Amino acid sequence: MDPETIMKAARDASKSAYAPYSGFRVGAAILTEDGEIYAGCNVENASYGLAICAERNAAAAMVLANLEGREVRLVAIFSPDAAPCFPCGACRQVLREFGCKEVVVVDASGLRCYPFEEILPHAFGPEGL
Ligand code: THU
Repeated sequence: MDPETIMKAARDASKSAYAPYSGFRVGAAILTEDGEIYAGCNVENASYGLAICAERNAAAAMVLANLEGREVRLVAIFSPDAAPCFPCGACRQVLREFGCKEVVVVDASGLRCYPFEEILPHAFGPEGL
């Protein structure tokens, strides 16, 4: 599937962001190896440390909806408040759990795709246990 299509899902998801404290809105969309798309947005809390990033909410949506197809082909991330918006360290680790192969962000020149190995090199994963 076209990365533009996945980015559109991320852009749409960013419109649902609940970010009253930071004002930083993020949407993420996961494309699974079986061709499904799962989106998430960031959800903040009055207890600030409980904020959950868009990427982790997208991963949780995938886990809930897809018992068989939890291999992540790529994740697209969009923020109207920063371009590019890269995943935080915690989200990189969570995406690594599900075998994410590529990270797609938007910069001034358009879509940019990064191999996951570049985003989180020498990662610890389930096969290391
Ligand atoms: N955030 C995300 O949702 N994803 C990112 O890639 C970076 C940060 C959220 C967490 C918090 O709600 C806000 O952005 C500011 O850190």
